[in-house]
Amino acid sequence: MIRFLLDGELMEVEVEATETALDLIRYRLGRTGTKEGCAEGDCGACTVLLGERAETGLAWRAVNACILFAPMLDGKVLKTVESLAGGGVLAPIQSEMIERHGSQCGFCTPGFVMSLHGRAIGALGTADRSVADILSGNLCRCTGYGPIVAAGEAVAVQPGDDSADLKALAGIAPAEAGKGWFAPRTADALAALLLQYPDARIVAGATDVGLWVTKQQRDLGTVIFIGDIAELREISSSAGGLRIGAGVRYSEAWDALTDIHPALGELVRRIAGTQVRNAGTIGGNIANGSPIGDTPPALIVLDAQLTLRSGKDRRTIALEQFFIEYGRQDRAAGEFVESIFVPRPAADTMFDVIKLSKRFDSDISAVCGAFALRIAEEQVIAARIAFGGMAGTPKRALACEAALVGKRWSAATVEAAAAALVQDYAPLTDARGSSAYRMTVAANLLRRMWLRSSRPGEPVSVLEKGLAYG
Ligand code: FAD
Ligand code: FES
Ligand code: FES
Repeated sequence: MIRFLLDGELMEVEVEATETALDLIRYRLGRTGTKEGCAEGDCGACTVLLGERAETGLAWRAVNACILFAPMLDGKVLKTVESLAGGGVLAPIQSEMIERHGSQCGFCTPGFVMSLHGRAIGALGTADRSVADILSGNLCRCTGYGPIVAAGEAVAVQPGDDSADLKALAGIAPAEAGKGWFAPRTADALAALLLQYPDARIVAGATDVGLWVTKQQRDLGTVIFIGDIAELREISSSAGGLRIGAGVRYSEAWDALTDIHPALGELVRRIAGTQVRNAGTIGGNIANGSPIGDTPPALIVLDAQLTLRSGKDRRTIALEQFFIEYGRQDRAAGEFVESIFVPRPAADTMFDVIKLSKRFDSDISAVCGAFALRIAEEQVIAARIAFGGMAGTPKRALACEAALVGKRWSAATVEAAAAALVQDYAPLTDARGSSAYRMTVAANLLRRMWLRSSRPGEPVSVLEKGLAYG
């Protein structure tokens, strides 16, 4: 039995492990304002707001209900679009959407309203972000975005009074298990459960796993939800670097990653849209092992370290060692990813990570290149280069690196290193790009580094812009 608050009312429901929150909301709670457009986290029509207890009060975040599993609502406050017009008075964003003609067929409208209401109440991932960025996970096929963005911009940010919800939440005991699922609250409890159920499916944000259910109808067996384990949600920064708990969501790590290097912050902006960034974790991105996951190339060139835990035993490995081959990672049954340590690059490191995808927002990479080069007295003294989308795993370009180290940092060296990429990669052709396209852009991304370093202070060239934004 899970318990959550909906418009001040305590809801108590029995839920299956992989029943989606969207199905619960629409079919069991009868709140059909929340729509299903894609069932894969792309369109935002199913956007709802979730509130959870945090140090400063209730922390709100917009999420996609279509790929959120119902047990993940436990102990939270849920707001659907029906929650907004309390007592028949529209929320400011609803009035602005009407005033500025922000809706035509209306199918996407509840999702936009919820994302923009999230901005109005200071939800996760909205502070200091443009309305366009906040709407990166909402699609509209008929109105056009101008009136919707204008409606969002017209609403002041003013967090509401959550004291009643906070008080009610304090009285709700967490559900730690249900039929076919567990939701441990400590890392020790998770470790013990995984020893008992070594083949259980760990679910963090469900932004990968959710689609296995909604699109592939996969049976996940026993599920262990880790999103409410406080220790896994910690971020700590030191002079040496950043330790990120495996359960930290992208939006929560955004500022800290930007502090490590602005290019990492820009990478987060290019990952999915707001709702997925508010649910998906870096731990999940790594553990999933996808060759087109966006964080591994950047973290590999920064020499990030991964800590895995089984029972009471921990081991720390270089992140690049984790990816063995397509679909296989260095993780034993019963083991889980506990944290990632991202070293701060040395001051003289030239670092960049560049993602190419067909669409700027909310799209998966065709190629993602990451570069960490150290150059002293015009010589390359160290080079770490890795790409996603070029092999069965995120992979270092060792031949390319060898062609750089010890050489003069010059156009000729860069051309020799670009030519060496054929020894490192033989990429696939798929819907995101042909093999030839991938080889060409990988070489061009290296050339971009050269252009940048050889013309410091110059504005981004048209060529560079084209490369950066695919
Ligand atoms: P989950 O889905 O919960 O889990 C993913 C995998 O990791 C599962 O195998 C799970 O068992 C395992 N796992 C999770 N945590 C742990 C742990 N602590 N220990 C061991 N195993 C664990 N990804 C990108 O890289 N770039 C994008 O631009 C991008 N865009 C997306 C857009 C959309 C619309 C969607 C739906 C997804 C997108 N993704 C993208 C994929 C996804 O959001 C990321 O891979 C995300 O980081 C997954 O994290 P999660 O917490 O949701 O993982
Ligand atoms: Fe499209 Fe959920 S239905 S994101
Ligand atoms: Fe029709 Fe947005 S108003 S899809």
